[in-house]
This record gives sequence, C-alpha cells and structure tokens, in this order.
Amino acid sequence: MKISQKKVFNEALLSWYHEEKRDLPWRRTSDPYYIWVSEVMLQQTRVDTVIPYYERFINSFPTMEALAVAEEENVLKHWEGLGYYSRVRNLQAGVREVVEQYDSKIPETRSEIMSLKGIGPYTAGAVLSIAYGIPEHAVDGNVMRVFSRLFLIDEDIAIPKTKKVFEQRVMEIIDESDPSSFNQAIMELGATICTPRPRCLLCPVREFCEAFNEGKQEELPVKTKKVRKKVVTICSFAIQEPGGKFLLRKRPSEGLLADFWEFPQLEVTEEASALDQLMTETGLLLDKGIEFARFKHVFSHITWLVEGFHAVLQDQSPIPEGYRFFSEHELEQLPKSKPMSKLLEQLEL
Ligand code: ADE
Repeated sequence: MKISQKKVFNEALLSWYHEEKRDLPWRRTSDPYYIWVSEVMLQQTRVDTVIPYYERFINSFPTMEALAVAEEENVLKHWEGLGYYSRVRNLQAGVREVVEQYDSKIPETRSEIMSLKGIGPYTAGAVLSIAYGIPEHAVDGNVMRVFSRLFLIDEDIAIPKTKKVFEQRVMEIIDESDPSSFNQAIMELGATICTPRPRCLLCPVREFCEAFNEGKQEELPVKTKKVRKKVVTICSFAIQEPGGKFLLRKRPSEGLLADFWEFPQLEVTEEASALDQLMTETGLLLDKGIEFARFKHVFSHITWLVEGFHAVLQDQSPIPEGYRFFSEHELEQLPKSKPMSKLLEQLEL
C-alpha cells in the first residue's frame, strides 16, 4: 500500500471496525487501568478464555488501589489457569508504582509508562492509544502478520529487531484522529480475517493489500522455525501424613511458577530412583505408594512430562524448613499451577 492512500485506507478500515467489531467487555470502557488489565491478559491468551477472567478480576479489584493492597495469593487465585504468572505479579507491581509514585494516574508518555514493571512496547502502545487516544504503535505477532501482508514485508518476524520495522510502518499509517480504533481495528482484522490462513474475500482493505494483489498472502509473514522445546521428566510426590494432610513446599521466588506451593518434585533422568533422591535431598522419610498420574504440560520454553506418585510420610520423619501441611480444604483455596491442578484432579480426593 502506498502512503498516499492512507486516508482512504483508514476510512475503509475504521468503518468496517465500527460495523463489525466484537462486543468485548474491555471495549466498553476507556479506563486505562482496565485496558491495562485486559491487554496483559490478552498477551498469550485467547479472547474467549480471557473474558470471564477479566470480568472476575475487575470485579474483585475494581481500582488500582484495590489491586495494590491485595494479597498476592488472592491475586494469583484470580489468574489460576491463565498461565504465565509473572504477568500478574508484574501487573500488581506496576500498579503499586502508579499508586505510590504517580498519584494513581497512569502516565501518558511512552517513556514513563514503559518504566513501569511489566509494561513493554506493546502494552505501552495499547494503553496509550486505546485509553488516551494517543497515536502510538502497539505491535504484536498478529499486527505483524497483517502489516507484512499489507506492505509486503518479508523480513523474518522471529527476529526481535524486525519488530521495529513494523512499529515504524504503523506510525506512518496510523489514523491520528482515532488511534484507539485504528489499533483495535488492526487487531480485529488479525483476529478475524487476516488470520494465518487469510480470508481475503471478506477483507475490507484487500484492495490496498500488496500481498493480495500479488497473490502472496499465504506466504507471509516470514517466520523461521523455532528450536524444539526441551522436555524434562518431573516426578512429583503427593506426600500424605497419617492424618491425611498433604506436605507441600513453596517454589523459589524467582523463575518458572515462582512462589507457587506444590507437591515436592524432582527433575529426573531415571524415575526408579526418584523417591530415594528426594529423601536424600530433603531428609524426609517416605514410603512410596502407587503412581497416580502421568501427563504432559507445555510451558513457553520447556515441556514437563509429569509423573505423580503417592507417598506416605513416616511418623519419625523430620520436616524441613519451607514445607507446610495442607488439608484438602486448604488445598482447594490455594492458587495452583496447571500441573498442580492436574495432579490434584487425578488424585481424586
Ligand atoms: N488482542 C490484544 N489486544 C486486544 C484487544 N484490545 N481486543 C481484542 N483482541 C486483542
């Protein structure tokens, strides 16, 4: 598309968006805090999944002040099942910064808003444009797909610095009179029409699309293959004391699933010796019961092959620091990672 066609393009795009846009809860507000929450949830998670989480989250934490003072466990409980939990920890940390340092007003410049915890270039642009109407780019994978076709850009979107090319193009073409609708219209186009297998016959801007004009829409975007994810075997032990309570330990406060309580577990190369290894590492005295679960869980960078074993705590066993007993009822209340939820499900308490 030529830049000279910008005005006609934007008219076609925005009138389509106003006619066809989906009625989504975060499109009924321009409260920057709600937009922020929705955009954080929508990173890596589908719209249909996000809707009920979004509603519940803003019901429980209707203001930034409410989220700032909420217990982390309670906040995590509202995120349970969405994955990528560092997102919500960063969100809460960022909100606390806004409450404490910006008098509860989310800043309106890219540099200030990006200094907040958890706000990267995409979220910054989304909040600035959607909530404040400021012409700023908000480029994610979907936007890159749409723009790669519109402008026949064949640079590899798997390379991080390629994003800059797209951000520049967005800034050239963005509708300055309604940046909020512009960015959301591009997102909507990417979600409903300019999908990986594009539905060009329904596209409101296909006459502007260089890829469509050359029949190359299926070849774009160019994206090199990712390396295969590492797979590790995790043996997890549902350890029960004679009274029926389970012994859990808290994960480290950094890294994957930080701070979640879980059944003691080990990464193993040989399952047969896992219980001995756990006893040596922790000093716990255990009797092994049966295997009750086996499943795969895929994280963004690693895959766990989880094997769950039941184990019984011997009377005379020491309890190392950082471990705690939980009744079934307490387990229900606890925020849990997906693997931990699956283990509990398969324990059939
Ligand atoms: N994906 C990312 N942000 C979105 C938004 N605001 N609406 C719909 N889908 C999105």
